[in-house]
Amino acid sequence: MITSHNIYIHVPFCVSKCRYCAFFSHACSNPDWDGYTKKIVDEIEYFSRKLGKIHIPTIFFGGGTPSLIPSKNFSEIIGAIRKNFDVAPDAEITIEANPGTLDNTRLTEFCTAGVNRLSVGVQSFDDKKLKFLGRIHNAHDAIALIENGLNRGIRVSADFIYGLPGEDVQDIIETCNKINKIGITHCSMYELTIEPNTPFGKMNLDMPSNETMADMYIAIGDNLKLPRYEVSNYALVGHECRHNQNVWDGAPYIGIGDGAAGRIYLNNTWYEELGAGKMFQPMTDKARAIERVITGMRTMRGVHIDDTIKKILNIEFAKTHPDVIMFSNDRIAATNAGILVLDDLIEKLVK
Ligand SMILES: C[S@@+](CC[C@H](N)C(=O)[O-])C[C@H]1O[C@@H](n2cnc3c(N)ncnc32)[C@H](O)[C@@H]1O
Ligand code: SF4
Repeated sequence: MITSHNIYIHVPFCVSKCRYCAFFSHACSNPDWDGYTKKIVDEIEYFSRKLGKIHIPTIFFGGGTPSLIPSKNFSEIIGAIRKNFDVAPDAEITIEANPGTLDNTRLTEFCTAGVNRLSVGVQSFDDKKLKFLGRIHNAHDAIALIENGLNRGIRVSADFIYGLPGEDVQDIIETCNKINKIGITHCSMYELTIEPNTPFGKMNLDMPSNETMADMYIAIGDNLKLPRYEVSNYALVGHECRHNQNVWDGAPYIGIGDGAAGRIYLNNTWYEELGAGKMFQPMTDKARAIERVITGMRTMRGVHIDDTIKKILNIEFAKTHPDVIMFSNDRIAATNAGILVLDDLIEKLVK
């Protein structure tokens, strides 16, 4: 019986939309923060009534730009979570932060409210590239925010986007060297995806070839001093994002806020939810097991082969393809070669 759930809170507001971004967020200079906070607190209370005062190991504020929340609203949300649930004393509390939206005073207030992990959207160390991406900050702002977090002793991660038009392997090696020097213990490296219905989607950009992208991915693994623990995520051992790791491993999580989805485990049944009153429907064990394979295979530790996974796994395929799939103890994972063809692999792995 699982009584523990992670919490994800979505904040769908940004100062302006970046030119590549298809995430659920809108540019809004002055959101109704009190109204949105009330909505979030109502959802927290709704899930507490439904699930009881369950244990919460991690809370993740994602966006959009959660670092825009006024600190009094942020404290109110954290207070409501603590009142309605049993938050672990060592809970990981992460906030995604955009450079240019979080000054020293507000960062102090966030930390006082409980934030102990900062995920900074750096994207690039090159100001020209930041401008091209449509970011509102420069590299100096981003490094200053990272250093501010590090000086406080909280955990700091940074997001980067690579594979911009004209970029090659040498560019990503230089980025890796700079990341190594800054001394962060976690970072996310995302290949630029051109999403339809974004400005980039309409620009017919001259992107690097698939071969160059694959070479850049390999160069990240070779040059970053942080081991890869998920397709796009790198960390020193013990510094992984516990929230994401739990979700990728198949632990339940409550999604709160506009655009947030969750997976709830209640009375031996899995439920898919989209926030209070919007949607709460049972999932079959098979559907949940398939999700666990999709997210778990993206991690280097892979998927724990339990009874539900056994029912949907094409073991014959896995055993006959040791070049792309490996077994260790009771887990199955992609090899380095497998990671490069992951979507195809997962399709073949699921019966
Ligand atoms: C949920 S977003 C929010 C983070 C925060 N709003 C920010 O931009 O700093 C998380 C990360 O996804 C990455 N991302 C978003 N859209 C992307 C795209 N089209 N291609 C590659 N990476 C993308 C960016 O690195 C971004 O920091
Ligand atoms: S990348 Fe981040 S800051 Fe930019 S529009 Fe998307 S969510 Fe907002």
